[in-house]
Amino acid sequence: MEFLPKVVIIDLGSQYTFVIERTIRELGVRSAIFNDRKKAAAWIKKYPCSAIVYSGGDRSVYDAGSPQPPIETLDLGVPVLAICYGMHWIAHHFGGKVERKGSEYGKGGIVCENSPLFDGMAGPLEVWNSHGDSVTRVPDGYRVTARSAATGIAAAIENVESKFFCVQFHPEVVDTPRGKELLSNFLFKIAACEKDWQTASVIAEAREDLRASIKPGERAIIGYSGGVDSSVGAALAGSVFNEDLLLVTIDGGHLRENEPDEIRQNAKATGCAQHLMIDARAEFDAVMSDTIDAEEKRKRFKKVYTALLLKAAKDFGASIILQGTLATDRIESGATGGALIKSHHNVGLDFGDLRQVHQLDRFFKYEVRALARELGLPESIAERQPFPGPGGFLRVNGVPATQEYLELWKWAQARVDEILIRRGLYAAISQNVVSVCGTKTVGVKGDGRVYAHPIVVRGIETIDFMTGKGVRLPTEAKEEIEAVVTAHPRVTCVYYNETSKPPATTEPE
Ligand code: XMP
Repeated sequence: MEFLPKVVIIDLGSQYTFVIERTIRELGVRSAIFNDRKKAAAWIKKYPCSAIVYSGGDRSVYDAGSPQPPIETLDLGVPVLAICYGMHWIAHHFGGKVERKGSEYGKGGIVCENSPLFDGMAGPLEVWNSHGDSVTRVPDGYRVTARSAATGIAAAIENVESKFFCVQFHPEVVDTPRGKELLSNFLFKIAACEKDWQTASVIAEAREDLRASIKPGERAIIGYSGGVDSSVGAALAGSVFNEDLLLVTIDGGHLRENEPDEIRQNAKATGCAQHLMIDARAEFDAVMSDTIDAEEKRKRFKKVYTALLLKAAKDFGASIILQGTLATDRIESGATGGALIKSHHNVGLDFGDLRQVHQLDRFFKYEVRALARELGLPESIAERQPFPGPGGFLRVNGVPATQEYLELWKWAQARVDEILIRRGLYAAISQNVVSVCGTKTVGVKGDGRVYAHPIVVRGIETIDFMTGKGVRLPTEAKEEIEAVVTAHPRVTCVYYNETSKPPATTEPE
């Protein structure tokens, strides 16, 4: 059964985009977030959609390079709810006027009129604002449906005929007490959305689909990284396969410090009894010690990883391999094409005569996190940062990924993570990447010359990892990282890579 979200959220740079998704999900409706116009356009072309939401954003429509929603969303005939910057964009695009005036930050009030959006809510309302610009003249065909109690400036405009509904305030946040009611009006009364997310039934359905796709007595394995996708995958499949499911983790020395132990604990938390941890350091060392080329490292990793997984499957008598492909991968491999930036190791794996079942390919990362919570998995799993399959092999750059270099990386990654966790900075970073730079630099320690490696620290803040903002750490955190990390005899200095994606990527290689 096709079960993809029918509400599309276009992220225009808002810090609340996830809150929009969550609030809509709490109303029982799934949504897909996009912050890449081309990907969004390809998605709406391919999959039916019932409603579109433009998020707010921190830019002005007059800024160079300000975010633009995909033009394709304008003539679909599907209702659009445009929030804050989204409203400015609509007004500007259709010939209205947006000016730098009437700014309001924090709690405020509006007075609204009859409108399908405010159905059952006419009169004064408490709302939460965060805007510097305002719409001072509405485009032709639009009418003002709410005004700020403080400034009298438009707080909501709409064009019922073309189904565009715009609000200046943020209905998604709790400080707009009746915001959920407004979103509910938009989704159900205006866009006629159907409820398609009740976590318990989503889980039951996913299990049912899996059950329907297997034959009695079939055994399966799942590559288990301990992360949120494979933990949800294992927890979902565990009650379908019971003793016939094996979780397989391959430790090639490329996992983080103490990670094998954490993975063991996480495996237990999924409720699956059978977990195999394969120590494959020797196998990986044999192929990794004579190349410095990143793509070559990836190819070799993929080859050894696949062979080890296949062997584990054969030994277990499995005919199925469960894969953690997410809905995002459908977009990546969809109509958009594009250049090969990196060959991700989990795409296009050849498992010979093993059948691959993609049980999560209808879900997005944030939904998988919600499923993890519903399945009762610990918060440490639900919130876990992504960590690429080839792990440390990609974080030892410009030198062969030998166990010796992997140990240095492991140590540095752990020390930096510790500092960021203790300073309360870690949770806001989507992925914290520490790597060893292969090009040595000269250092002075004690009275002697040292010729050793720089460590590169790079955090990224992102929604979907397609684009992201390089993290800029506070000076005191940087100073502590520098002091701790350069204490290692093989480290001379610390570099900070604060570049956004694009042009950089999350991982250095
Ligand atoms: P990039 O570096 O392309 O990464 O911005 C986007 C996300 O994908 C992860 N990544 C990988 N994951 N195999 C994986 O399983 C890979 O080869 C690989 N390369 C990057 C990366 O960590 C980030 O979360």
